[in-house]
Amino acid sequence: MRVSIFGLGYVGAVSAACLAERGHMVIGVDPNVDKVELINSGRAPVVEAELADLTRRAVAEKRLQATTDPVSAVLDSEVTFVCVPTPSQTNGNLDFRYLERVCTEIGAALREKRAFHVVIVRSTILPGTIRGLVIPTLERASGGRVGEDFGVCNNPEFLRESTAVADFRNPPKTVIGASDSRSGDIVQSLYEGFPGAVIRCPIEVGEMVKYADNSWHATKVTFANEIGKICKSIGVDSHVVMDIFCKDSKLNLSSYYLKPGFAFGGSCLPKDLRAITYHARSHDVSTPLLSSLMFSNGEQIEQGIAMVLASRRKKVGVLGFSFKAGTDDLRESPLVEVIERLIGKGFDLRLYDRNVNLAKLTGANREYIMKSIPHIERLMVASVEQVLEHADVIVIGNRGEEFTGLADKLRPDQLVIDFVRIRQIEERHANYAGICW
Ligand SMILES: NC(=O)c1ccc[n+]([C@@H]2O[C@H](COP(=O)([O-])OP(=O)(O)OC[C@H]3O[C@@H](n4cnc5c(N)ncnc54)[C@H](O)[C@@H]3O)[C@@H](O)[C@H]2O)c1
Repeated sequence: MRVSIFGLGYVGAVSAACLAERGHMVIGVDPNVDKVELINSGRAPVVEAELADLTRRAVAEKRLQATTDPVSAVLDSEVTFVCVPTPSQTNGNLDFRYLERVCTEIGAALREKRAFHVVIVRSTILPGTIRGLVIPTLERASGGRVGEDFGVCNNPEFLRESTAVADFRNPPKTVIGASDSRSGDIVQSLYEGFPGAVIRCPIEVGEMVKYADNSWHATKVTFANEIGKICKSIGVDSHVVMDIFCKDSKLNLSSYYLKPGFAFGGSCLPKDLRAITYHARSHDVSTPLLSSLMFSNGEQIEQGIAMVLASRRKKVGVLGFSFKAGTDDLRESPLVEVIERLIGKGFDLRLYDRNVNLAKLTGANREYIMKSIPHIERLMVASVEQVLEHADVIVIGNRGEEFTGLADKLRPDQLVIDFVRIRQIEERHANYAGICW
């Protein structure tokens, strides 16, 4: 394919050389004359392992060249990658100056082009940028329409500097968000033969994935450093601790605990977080990340309560209120906190949780239920149906098996506030609100 690449920095220069290596005809575009001359003389414009060799070979074999002229590059290519900077403004927002300018330039070139063209944004951009800025700017500058005269895709870059070429050849995943399926297919064909999953998704999902990734990577580094500081303060080898930590691919390095939902709770996580952050404080170790977790968790509980308050209805039913399905343990259940706050605000509640009922009947957790939360015990009913008969608002607090078939039993006017995302209800009940989806 004939490919133009706007922006010959780390992302653009690596993409250009690697796509040329795979047989595509690549034209790089950059207003920086030095970078253009470097490429045209077969030299890499940035320092990256393997890039110098790849660039030299691609230029010698006439599969890679560079120019400062955006129009000729667009006219001589079928697809255009956008790899311009999206730096921070002082307030943290992205500076869209380069992106807007490059879209204006590409749009102006598209005005002169008859054939369908795909613009692929590889720069990191906040969700909503393609629909809010890229497409309108291209349409304005080109006089054409997205999906008809040109397509726009989001194809975020996951390379790491210093191993960028290796990462390009062996990506963890290839994510493609497209304005139309034809454009998505064209971009996908560019990556034929690459390892790793190719994932097609809505444009905004692709934009957001990059931020989820980088926020997670930053969280990992900060987490490891805070654990390291605590370890050092007490003479424990942090690398030995984290080596063992990393061996656990069931709970630690896995997808477990990584789906948005309700607050954590139970008899361990809150208690142990409090203990380790107290321990850090008492050793004069600052752990802002770990210390923020209980606060953030509390905000999730507040969010759940706010959703019920916003419904302006007083008859509320809670289905599932142990901190997760399959346990009768109510210690530090965040659902119990929600229930207590709603009782305090005068809501008329009915509660059902199969395991808690069972514990009450068999005596397993009976003493805790009767003594520690008698005000909650009084509101417990024996079946889902009794909750449904009473409530105008139904809060689903955990993944109790019996809740999946609920969609058929609900009245249309009943509002479901879902803390765990039960798809059958989300898909079939119109009056539905998820806590963070
Ligand atoms: N560097 C990374 O490791 C990395 C990884 C993934 C994603 N990203 C994202 O990719 C984007 C580019 O990052 P980078 O590190 O390659 O940037 P960079 O600053 O190294 O290079 C950007 C290039 O774009 C050029 N440019 C500016 N305006 C232009 C225009 N109108 N037309 C053509 N070229 C223009 C600049 O002259 C520069 O050479 C950013 O959004 C960044 O967040 C970077």
